Amino acid sequence: MTDHPRLIEVAFPLKQASLDSVHEKNVRHGHISTLHIWPARRPLAACRAALIATLLPDPGTPEKRKELLEKIGGKVVNEVQKKKVGGKTVEVVRERTEGGVLHWGNENSPDMDWFREEIKKAYGGRAPRVLDPFAGGGAIPLEAMRLGCEATAIDINPVAWFILKCTLEYPQKLAGQVRPLPKFALESSEFMEMFLKGSGKLGKKQVEKELAQYQQGLFPPPEADLAWHVRAWGWWVLQQARRDLERFYPIIDGKPTVAYLWARTVACKNCRAIIPLLKTRWLCKKDNKRVVLTMEPNDNKTGVVFGVQNDVPVIGGNVAQRREYDKKVGAGTMSRSGVTCPCCNAPSMTMEDLRLEGKAGRLNADVTVVVVQCNDSREYRAVIPHEREVLREVEVKLPELLEQIPHGELNEPLQPESTRSISCDLYGINTFGKMFTPRQTLALACFVKTTRQARSELSSYPLEWQEAIYRLVALNIDRLADRCSTLCRPDPTPTQSGVINTFSKFALPMTWDFIEGVPIANSSGGYIHSIEWIALVVENLTRRVPPMGDSRVVHQSATHSNGPQCFDLVMTDPPYYEAISYADLSDFFYVWLKRVNEDLPQFSTTLTDKTNEAVQHMRSDKSRVVERNKYESRMAEAFRSINSRLTQEGRFVVVFAHKQPDAWETLVSAMIHAGFVVTGSWPIQTEMSNRGRAIGSASLSSSVWLVCKKRPDSARLGWDNRVLDEMRHNIHARLRDYWDAGIRGPDFVWAATGPAMEAYSKHPVVKKANEPGKLMEVSEFLRAVRRLVVDFVVGRVLTGGDETSASGLDDVTTYYILHRHDFGVSDAPVGPCILYAVSCNLSDRDLADRFEILLRTGGLSSADDDGEVDESDEETDADSEPEEGTGSIVKLRPWHQRKRKSMGFDTEGHPAPLIDQVHRLMHLWKTGDVAKVDDYLDSRGLRKHALFLYLLQALIELSRRDEQRDEVVILENLSNHLQARGVAPTRPVTLPGLGGYDENGDPA
Ligand SMILES: C[S@@+](CC[C@H](N)C(=O)[O-])C[C@H]1O[C@@H](n2cnc3c(N)ncnc32)[C@H](O)[C@@H]1O
Repeated sequence: MTDHPRLIEVAFPLKQASLDSVHEKNVRHGHISTLHIWPARRPLAACRAALIATLLPDPGTPEKRKELLEKIGGKVVNEVQKKKVGGKTVEVVRERTEGGVLHWGNENSPDMDWFREEIKKAYGGRAPRVLDPFAGGGAIPLEAMRLGCEATAIDINPVAWFILKCTLEYPQKLAGQVRPLPKFALESSEFMEMFLKGSGKLGKKQVEKELAQYQQGLFPPPEADLAWHVRAWGWWVLQQARRDLERFYPIIDGKPTVAYLWARTVACKNCRAIIPLLKTRWLCKKDNKRVVLTMEPNDNKTGVVFGVQNDVPVIGGNVAQRREYDKKVGAGTMSRSGVTCPCCNAPSMTMEDLRLEGKAGRLNADVTVVVVQCNDSREYRAVIPHEREVLREVEVKLPELLEQIPHGELNEPLQPESTRSISCDLYGINTFGKMFTPRQTLALACFVKTTRQARSELSSYPLEWQEAIYRLVALNIDRLADRCSTLCRPDPTPTQSGVINTFSKFALPMTWDFIEGVPIANSSGGYIHSIEWIALVVENLTRRVPPMGDSRVVHQSATHSNGPQCFDLVMTDPPYYEAISYADLSDFFYVWLKRVNEDLPQFSTTLTDKTNEAVQHMRSDKSRVVERNKYESRMAEAFRSINSRLTQEGRFVVVFAHKQPDAWETLVSAMIHAGFVVTGSWPIQTEMSNRGRAIGSASLSSSVWLVCKKRPDSARLGWDNRVLDEMRHNIHARLRDYWDAGIRGPDFVWAATGPAMEAYSKHPVVKKANEPGKLMEVSEFLRAVRRLVVDFVVGRVLTGGDETSASGLDDVTTYYILHRHDFGVSDAPVGPCILYAVSCNLSDRDLADRFEILLRTGGLSSADDDGEVDESDEETDADSEPEEGTGSIVKLRPWHQRKRKSMGFDTEGHPAPLIDQVHRLMHLWKTGDVAKVDDYLDSRGLRKHALFLYLLQALIELSRRDEQRDEVVILENLSNHLQARGVAPTRPVTLPGLGGYDENGDPA
């Protein structure tokens, strides 16, 4: 394509892409996220929208643009849904999309053919070439292939590389192809029933009839696609493994075991009794079923004897009393203060003691109770001696089995480069082998052995089929390991019998009580259940009738610059500083994959490569500055490599999800230095706003998609005054267009930032006209852009339309106004607030801790503010309530709670934010000391401060809207006081979306 502006550089289906991206997070069946865990997967809807809008040219007129946007994203409609809130059914109005190609399920809609054709046309009849050099779980290259492009996916991590092969290569090669099911599948009535039911809408009778005909050889073996062959070979692996493993999961009294609950144990420092480390003893706390684990010292007080108490009574006259009673009845041995010994009743060990014991190898584990299936319900029973005998047998059998698999015992060390999300090693789990009980290792090793046996059984298939089936079945070892480690926690809701997988958070924390499922069972978490998730994804990926574009999956560093300059588009979502330690975490999977994939060179090292990973590593013995520099220089290198591989007219789209303004500036600056001109930016909401990691971590619920093109070699240096003038001139029309298009809030600020940057980034460097030899840095220019954009919005809030008059307002007050205008004094999702904060050159942490403007009110975060592992998981009482919200919800701190002594005064050369001055005045007014009010007004020159008067008026209006009576009264009194002393009255203002007020202060 010639260098025609792209749709994304002018317009984007922002709302639709956000709605469908958030919706997609609820989708389970068939979504690539269920193939294998990979952190930070971007939603397919966002990737698809960004790809289409970058690959297609801007149609040129507002009408055609609107039409194209609707074809991509559909229409936004309101839907009334019924929801149960506190026992009552209420109606909730939700926005959703109708039509378009972004919604989950529309990826195969006929409109996609139209887009494929248009894209091809735009590239002169050929498939455009798309590169993702940080491809991770493969969302971007997959969508590029769906749009008919040739996709190249690069990742340095061998686990990501393997996931990419399973997502982008194996299914596509065999899409639309079928082969007869293997003989063993035909012979199994259970499998065939599943197949016949799954592949057609057959009734029970028909299934029985067809089954008989197949099994009697009256019909030739049925043909099936790749997904069914994966199911069949998964089935085969399970049958083989069951033979070896069944005796280690004994069925007692005809009741199959669902799970074993375990507790780690330690010897009491006082009496040497063995203490089970339990956070709670509640096993089931439902209205009709209340069960606790009982625990009594044994006769000689060397440990405890476990039992089960069913029908625990409800005691207490009110909710608080009942909760108190339940807390006592189900108390474990661990609390915030440490461990209490059930034998000597002394507060025995601190967390530090446990660390020391763990490191000395003196933490053990014991089964506390067995969960069994009884008809349709779950029962809990004590462990019987035979089950303990079985555990001893496992230990005997294990070495022999480990010898039969490549690399044998899992003694790969746990030496994370970042301790941000890994803490189990602090308690002695210093090899991957120690993350599993002997029986879990035995089961996983047995599945490795039988999976490898399956390989030799596949020889009757063509090579491509052998490869695809084997690798996809091999992937299931990881899915199983995720559900079979001692980091799996019992699901407390509603019964402690479900398994919460190891990677329910992207972290490897310490667990005290854990759950061991039965991998050979047909229940959730078992091997066969797990293979079904893989088959569903394969089914989704192979269902397309027209073939997808070609793909190439490369195990390489993004910094590698060898390769032709041939890509029409590079779209990528890179790692962000210390946000996620991909290599450290993926080692958990790597150690298993290398045992089933020992023939692949990507799995030939002990662990994954951390040296070349573009991640800021965070170990306590590492220098933060050195690691940060390493990360930044690696990213700069990657941007240069991307530039060298992009055609002259190509585009580079990069996803940013980091929330610190300086991180932005550094990365954008590296992109400009690498030869890119920024031409657009769109903030797409890609996560639900109540995600675990939010404030306190570096991630956002919205990610900003920045669009760039290559700067021609002939570009000349620029001068700051001209660059700023050009930016102001260009951006004004854009701001009005976006405002008129209904883009609001942080979306507006971010949508305008990209286009504004073109004036600066089109020069290799920008010099300062009045300071010879000095350069204008990106940060300085970005500040000017943000100010201009934010002033435009604040101007509309403060003055009802005259955007220029807001310039000069300080950052904190600007943030306050933006936040108050959008969210009032209620709870607000943290994502948009972070975007606003960054656009005011602030961080959410500044606002919460330094300026005390924001309050964290809800949600939980898995990281504390220092970015270290949250050990609260280990140290809190399971029943205790969270004290202060640290996560996803924030709100403005009410003025009367802002009581810092220094508030409203300049500190260390920093002028006091105007909003602090207003709040100080409000406190002074409330004390009734008018003289102090006047002194303060005069000392700060506020009587003649035009913005102060506008601000006061806007706050009156906002507090009326928010029904904050006290605030309205004080602000009005202050305003009247000022007017009485001869200040010209400010004109009534109109907030966008509000009616405004007349001279009497009454609503218009
Ligand atoms: C944010 S993730 C990509 C997620 C992806 N967009 C998705 O939707 O699944 C960043 C990826 O960069 C990879 N990575 C880190 N350093 C790299 C390097 N030097 N070269 C290539 N990939 C790297 C990580 O392994 C990780 O998979």
